[in-house]
Amino acid sequence: MEEARIETAARSLSGIGRAVQGAIYAAGAYGHKPKVPVEPAALYDAARRRMSPQAWSYVAGSAGMQRTDRANTAAFERFPIVPRILREVSERSMEASLLGQTLAAPVLFAPIGVLEMAHKEAELAVARAARSLGLPMVLSTQGSVPMEQTSEALGANPMWYQLYWSNNDELAQSLVRRAEAAGAQAIVVTLDTHLLGWRTKDLDLGYLPFARGQGIAQYLTDPVFQDLVGDRVEFPEEPVRDERASRRDLPEGRPTLAAIRTLLSITRHYPGSFRDNLRSPLPRAAVETFLDVFPCPQLTWDDLTKLREWTRLPIVLKGIQSVEDAQRSIDHGVDGIVVSNHGGRQIDGAVASLDALAAIAPEVDGRLPVLFDSGIRSGADIFKALALGASAVLVGRPWLYGLALDGAAGAEAVMERLLAELDLTMALSGVASIDEITRDCLAHSDPR
Ligand code: FNR
Ligand code: LAC
Repeated sequence: MEEARIETAARSLSGIGRAVQGAIYAAGAYGHKPKVPVEPAALYDAARRRMSPQAWSYVAGSAGMQRTDRANTAAFERFPIVPRILREVSERSMEASLLGQTLAAPVLFAPIGVLEMAHKEAELAVARAARSLGLPMVLSTQGSVPMEQTSEALGANPMWYQLYWSNNDELAQSLVRRAEAAGAQAIVVTLDTHLLGWRTKDLDLGYLPFARGQGIAQYLTDPVFQDLVGDRVEFPEEPVRDERASRRDLPEGRPTLAAIRTLLSITRHYPGSFRDNLRSPLPRAAVETFLDVFPCPQLTWDDLTKLREWTRLPIVLKGIQSVEDAQRSIDHGVDGIVVSNHGGRQIDGAVASLDALAAIAPEVDGRLPVLFDSGIRSGADIFKALALGASAVLVGRPWLYGLALDGAAGAEAVMERLLAELDLTMALSGVASIDEITRDCLAHSDPR
């Protein structure tokens, strides 16, 4: 395992609960209400009003009838906290160790693709927020900003890289190598998205950001990918037309305004000069190459040995929902897992991620770090996930909504408040450190 490179709690998180609360009430005394709402439902509503229908559908939408997404948040209702009194909790610490590193708090920025849909500064804004709080940022393979630039913006702040393997090993290896060179401290392989789920809201808008050149910056700047695009232009293949799709959904005739917009978007996203790109076949070929290369349903456990050869960094598998897969992860010698169902974006009607955590963590029993995401909306939710055995949590949509509302400051405000609420929840529950947040902090019987 790599040496710890960090120790960068940019500012102290000690006493953050009262500090943040105090600052908000003090501003309120002068008539200023928070620009980014604190209450989770109000935050959601404000972001919805701010974003375009396409961006909102992509960001907030999930698979099918959205049942997994609802189950994810509803599950937190079933694990109530039981507070303890008269304990010395005046000094509290949220410090935690993870993969050999000491973190200011066991909270990470989840990998989220296509951040440009929320804010034009995308990863660069999130990097500033992460750096200010000293929390690790997990960079997405579907990023809007090349990883090297985000890494620069992060400075010495912890950075992990999330890998979409794709069906081209050479490309996957190249992305991993670049991430390692850019200073990533872990590789998170997301395994629940080898195909995109059935996303009803996006389908009804016919909107796939990647088809417009959004969220493919890691690919466009990759030498292996660039070779694939070059080959595609040099040796074009006869397009295989899917008759069902072409009959129903592709109108014939002159290019529409929307088609021209799509073409301009693709052209703008391609590296180099816009004018040169307009005349070049490469930008369109790049999008087509991406769409071909992304799916990898053929990936299996055996492939993990390749990843081990490509990198010395810790390997973390994201998308674990079953005890059996957690066990196999241990058998395959990975360094950590993320219990996640991708925020319900992949399968409709799946198990709530928190229920999966409650089943998995006791079986893993400390043999490897178990990270958690999908459904965290508050500091109390973080407390519950830690109590159920998570070593750390990844936060997704909440900071994304903050980003949409107020850029870096909005993403930071949301994360800071989650930490503030976690700190106060710890104090009021009678615990002074992360280690003390155990299963005993929650009711033992299911209250249903
Ligand atoms: C994601 N997620 C995700 N995960 C990943 O490994 N790579 C990615 O590129 C993305 N992209 C992405 C885009 C958007 C818009 C969302 C909302 C989510 C999943 C993410 O890492 C995390 O698992 C979920 O966000 C957790 O669910 P909640 O708590 O945000 O609902
Ligand atoms: C998503 C992919 C990019 O959830 O992870 O949209």
